[in-house]
Amino acid sequence: MYSDDGVLNVGISRIDNEHQAISELCKKITTAINHSELTDEVKSSVLELTTMVGKHFKEEERLFEPLHLAMEKQHKEEHKVLIGKLASIMEDVDQGRDGLKKKFNDFDDCLQRHISYDFEMKHSSRIPE
Ligand SMILES: [Fe+2]
Ligand SMILES: [Fe+2]
Repeated sequence: MYSDDGVLNVGISRIDNEHQAISELCKKITTAINHSELTDEVKSSVLELTTMVGKHFKEEERLFEPLHLAMEKQHKEEHKVLIGKLASIMEDVDQGRDGLKKKFNDFDDCLQRHISYDFEMKHSSRIPE
């Protein structure tokens, strides 16, 4: 999603900053899960990520709604799918289930691929910085 070389920047600073924060938190969670599946750190970080991603998606949808982008419907659908994946991870965390690593990796992969939808905003000059 976010890359230090800027290749994956959408070009809207608040969106890029959020992508960076989300990406850093995902890396932190991956490291924590690799160390031990369920720790208080994993629990609080997944909760933090859920809030962060929810706000981010709402902000994107607010920004691109007036633009009537060709992929708007699919983009919103993707947001729902990703939120669903996170909710399922949160449920596992709450109930102390194993197997978080695989589920979280899957979520992280999908989130990174999601940038292709976010890029549609890049090509619209109507979003103010
Ligand atoms: Fe998005
Ligand atoms: Fe995004």
